Amino acid sequence: MSQIIIDQKTCTKCNTCATVCVMGIIDKTTDSGYPTIPEEKSDYCIKCGHCESFCAQKALTLDFLPEEKINATFSDSMIEPQNLAFYIKGRRSVRHYSSKTIDKELIAKVIDVARYAASGGNGQPVKWMVIHEPAEVKLVAGLTIDWMRTIQNTTHPLADYVPGIIATWDSGLDLICHNAPHLLFAHVPVDPIDDPTEAIIALTHFDIAAPAFGIGTCWAGFVKMALDNYKPLKDRLLIPEGRKAACPMLFGYSSYKITSIPRRNPVDITWR
Ligand SMILES: Cc1cc2nc3c(=O)[nH]c(=O)nc-3n(C[C@H](O)[C@H](O)[C@H](O)COP(=O)(O)O)c2cc1C
Repeated sequence: MSQIIIDQKTCTKCNTCATVCVMGIIDKTTDSGYPTIPEEKSDYCIKCGHCESFCAQKALTLDFLPEEKINATFSDSMIEPQNLAFYIKGRRSVRHYSSKTIDKELIAKVIDVARYAASGGNGQPVKWMVIHEPAEVKLVAGLTIDWMRTIQNTTHPLADYVPGIIATWDSGLDLICHNAPHLLFAHVPVDPIDDPTEAIIALTHFDIAAPAFGIGTCWAGFVKMALDNYKPLKDRLLIPEGRKAACPMLFGYSSYKITSIPRRNPVDITWR
């Protein structure tokens, strides 16, 4: 049940709220009244808040956590495009981490940014799990290596690739979790016809936001493969029954600073 709260002193009855409502449940204003959600339609509200976000007068508040409403004035040039492009192009995968751990409060702040990632129907299905204890991250790396040992001399596509990684691990070098202090998981309900898309989107938000908080990241693809295929790791990680994790993300303070942006392949676009 959702309702909209209208400040009648500032509402100009422009009806933008009704126009942008993705569910089309806001009745337009009349000469005598203000926009409303009729009671019989209020259950269809997905609480996306677009009615509120696009109200030029800031005259409307959705009655979902109204005390958390943030009024903001966005100008088109809030972030200069070249600054944003430089920031995003300057993100690098970090594989050398300081042993200094990151305070949980700071990690929660970055996850709070990722909370605003898009989700189908504003369903917000993502839940997070942070392995904060470095020794536990090491254990995950070890179990991933154990999984790699099981696929040696098999027909697995990585069978010829893993012996090198295993040998490196045995010599004391961690190419799985790169001695990162922390490991982040995002998980969503299992969907037989979809990948954990929303978890990947939310993690990508974390990946992009993290450098602004001084944090370096790296996707942990090998851990993901082991998680999908090796029961001892699955049992250790305890992703809740009925939920599926996306590729996890290593993070911590980087040992090195980034000083230049490397080249990438020319973009390949088909225009139709
Ligand atoms: C799905 C995915 C899985 C990845 N898995 C690993 C991994 O297991 N280990 C690793 O060191 N890097 C991993 N990476 C990082 C890529 O190697 C890296 O993004 C790529 O080399 C480009 O470097 P950049 O991120 O610094 O631009 C992964 C990246 C993605 C997107």
